[in-house]
Amino acid sequence: MTAAALSVGDVLRRATDHLARTSETGRLDAELLLAHALGRERIELYTDFDRPLTTQELDAYRELVARRARHEPVAYILGEWGFRRLTLTVDRRALIPRPETEIVVERALTHLSGLEGPRVLDVGTGTGAIALAIADEVRGAHVTGVDVSPDALELARENAARTGLAVDLVLHDLRDGLPDGPWDVVVSNPPYVEPLDLETLMPDVRDYEPQVALVGTGVTEAIMHGAADALVRGGWLVLEVGDGQALATAAALAGHGYLDVVTTRDLTGRDRVVEARRG
Ligand SMILES: C[S@@+](CC[C@H](N)C(=O)[O-])C[C@H]1O[C@@H](n2cnc3c(N)ncnc32)[C@H](O)[C@@H]1O
Repeated sequence: MTAAALSVGDVLRRATDHLARTSETGRLDAELLLAHALGRERIELYTDFDRPLTTQELDAYRELVARRARHEPVAYILGEWGFRRLTLTVDRRALIPRPETEIVVERALTHLSGLEGPRVLDVGTGTGAIALAIADEVRGAHVTGVDVSPDALELARENAARTGLAVDLVLHDLRDGLPDGPWDVVVSNPPYVEPLDLETLMPDVRDYEPQVALVGTGVTEAIMHGAADALVRGGWLVLEVGDGQALATAAALAGHGYLDVVTTRDLTGRDRVVEARRG
């Protein structure tokens, strides 16, 4: 059989077997990358299952599969990724938005409902995912996203332009405190991996996503501290935390005088979002 005679179904099977050695989601990766290489929707692979690939299509697909086999995240290869109702540009300038961060947005929304023109601050905005999703879903919200990384901020600006959503994006280091509010809600998915734990991360994350987005010591505490000044009285702080960090974060919030601490699980049952109200 010549290479050009391989069908969509054939290459999917081969790529899945190959990727399963390095990825837990070999089949899904293979499908997403093939749909991308062919310029089709994933579902269309199944209506085209027996169609032979051209040599150019096969070469393009091989290149994408080789990148994935070297642990490059699928989202970076595709160059875009879904987050709530939005499709965002993603690349190595910023962290890939994760499903658990959609829950952070969900929790923030519960504290914004009913407020007239609420002011929201997203600390460490990265791609702009949280800030843009809130601007998208809360009519009249005034959303500001800050980040210490000029690269991330540039990407967030591209995403604001791509989605047509108005958010303020500001270069700011949270170690200098939070920008003056007062904010009705402060939300953050801060870097929460301890430096010594970096080596334990999957290569897909460790070797491709920006270290400034992953590793941080005391960042969550610094946000709590800053938000205690910058929030309106009764305003909410919503934080994503690493697996196993929720209890300590809840205790620290109480220690900073926050009230009504609530912890929410992600889809795998892990406590990943902690929120509290400024007293
Ligand atoms: C875990 S990523 C979150 C990105 C995005 N909010 C999301 O949820 O996908 C953390 C972000 O915090 C930013 N960051 C790290 N240290 C910071 C600091 N000292 N001040 C402001 N932002 C910081 C990083 O550049 C990165 O974009």
